[in-house]
Amino acid sequence: MSYVYLKVPDKKDLHYRIKWMQDNKTMSYNAGYEINVKGYNKKTGTITKTEEEMIAWYDNFVLQEPDKYYAYVYIDNVLEPIGEVYYYLEHDIHNMGILIQDQYRGKGYGYFALLELEKIAFQKNGIHELSDFIPMERIGAINIFKKAGFVPTNVKQKELKFGKECISEQLLLTKEMYDRRKVKKMDEIVFQSEHINYIKVSDKYIKDYLKMMNNPKIRKLLSANDKVFTYEDELNWVKSSREKIQFSMIDKESKKFIGNIGLMDVTDKGAEMGITITEEFQNKHYGSEAIEAIVQYGFETLGLEEINLIVFSHNERAIHCYQKLGFVVEKVEKNVARIDNRDVDDIYMKRSK
Ligand SMILES: CC(C)(COP(=O)(O)OP(=O)(O)OC[C@H]1O[C@@H](n2cnc3c(N)ncnc32)[C@H](O)[C@@H]1OP(=O)(O)O)[C@@H](O)C(=O)NCCC(=O)NCCS
Repeated sequence: MSYVYLKVPDKKDLHYRIKWMQDNKTMSYNAGYEINVKGYNKKTGTITKTEEEMIAWYDNFVLQEPDKYYAYVYIDNVLEPIGEVYYYLEHDIHNMGILIQDQYRGKGYGYFALLELEKIAFQKNGIHELSDFIPMERIGAINIFKKAGFVPTNVKQKELKFGKECISEQLLLTKEMYDRRKVKKMDEIVFQSEHINYIKVSDKYIKDYLKMMNNPKIRKLLSANDKVFTYEDELNWVKSSREKIQFSMIDKESKKFIGNIGLMDVTDKGAEMGITITEEFQNKHYGSEAIEAIVQYGFETLGLEEINLIVFSHNERAIHCYQKLGFVVEKVEKNVARIDNRDVDDIYMKRSK
């Protein structure tokens, strides 16, 4: 099963929304209503919007957190968005909506997209409730909402659909219900060293990941670009890392988050190591302990013969650690980036079993 993730769209990607709102199959659920929306076709349910109209909608609706949220839904192996999720505040309640394009329905993506929206609404933006009105005959949709924790209230709405009465019921999920329902996730310890537990990466630690990865002192040791990571970036990283050799490190004594470590591009022979320690825990020998532990994990548990890494030439502390732990320089690629007004090199290092 592909993993589902959300991404706030750029304006240049609005053509996807324009297209699916004109797709008869995707919009058929929306047909027959007495709604006064420009471009609405009652016969098909489609809504035709020009690019200018869509940009005006974007400026009013997108990037308006916490009270409004809009994102495209993606699955990991498909380039185009498969649909959308959103919520917005209206009359003291956050109404939400979800749409999955016709060709992606019936595969469970809607349910996972709802779970992602819940995380954004309740964990990130701290809003108090999500509410949706769903026609009672749409039993499939109602069941997905119920599975995702929503409960029907006794509030109903009546509308005319092709001249016939259509009753929708309200499905509601409050933050309190969400928090109660969220089973306290236990950290899954995969292995340990003297002071550190290595656990599977988890959305529970996203705030820690953000603090670490957006720390300017750390960023300039890892990358030459200035990208500021968002909550969604980290959520997506957690999902894509769950099945990989990627761990969060937790201090056994204080139970605090120390950093992340992992082995990437694993082959029969070797893998590339990456490590980042949060500022609070740097220079206290956690890094040295963790590097030795992941090397042993690679050699003993995964049966690898060598561990490689790439480090910037200005990262003197990291280089010191790697050399101390038996890594040797394989090659140097000169002037790969410019950071803090100086040219820096990529140093390739390797430790063999
Ligand atoms: C690099 C990193 C993993 C090292 O972990 P750490 O826990 O801070 O390091 P440790 O405390 O285990 O060891 C630090 C060693 O470097 C030495 N050191 C500290 N600053 C140094 C510097 N500017 N130049 C040279 N050596 C330095 C310390 O004296 C210590 O040496 P010792 O073990 O011989 O006493 C960690 O600092 C980190 O995550 N940095 C930011 C992200 C990063 O650079 N990742 C690596 C990218 S390739």
